[in-house]
Amino acid sequence: MTVRITRNYRFVASHRLHLDHLSEEANQKLFGKCNNPYGHGHNYVVSITVHGPIDERTGLAVSVADLDTLVRREVIDRYDHRYLNFDVAEFASVPSTTENMAFAIRDHLQANWQTALGPNAPRLVDIKVQETKRNSVALSLIS
Ligand code: NI
Repeated sequence: MTVRITRNYRFVASHRLHLDHLSEEANQKLFGKCNNPYGHGHNYVVSITVHGPIDERTGLAVSVADLDTLVRREVIDRYDHRYLNFDVAEFASVPSTTENMAFAIRDHLQANWQTALGPNAPRLVDIKVQETKRNSVALSLIS
């Protein structure tokens, strides 16, 4: 018996989306309010979905404590209350679009997945990053 489990995490961060090689008008058109010159914040929600078998002894498919420790260390501690453009290495030269954030979170989690969750770790199958009520990006890691 396998199940999918989703756990939600929240953090706040500020950023500015801007590409130096484009004009002010082009940046404004491309990124809208996220191009405002002095930055702005978002209340982000990251949803992590795993898929795996239920351990018959525990009745669980994932150790929530271990998953929380991993996500806190690799995502929350890295991004929470940061100005992404300056404080976070991966967004120094890459715009912190919701799309790029989803891929960065995938990389950080996958690099530490087995170590954090052990040999019977469920698969990381989906990452969703919600930037605003109207905007979220889902990254599916299974085809
Ligand atoms: Ni923004």
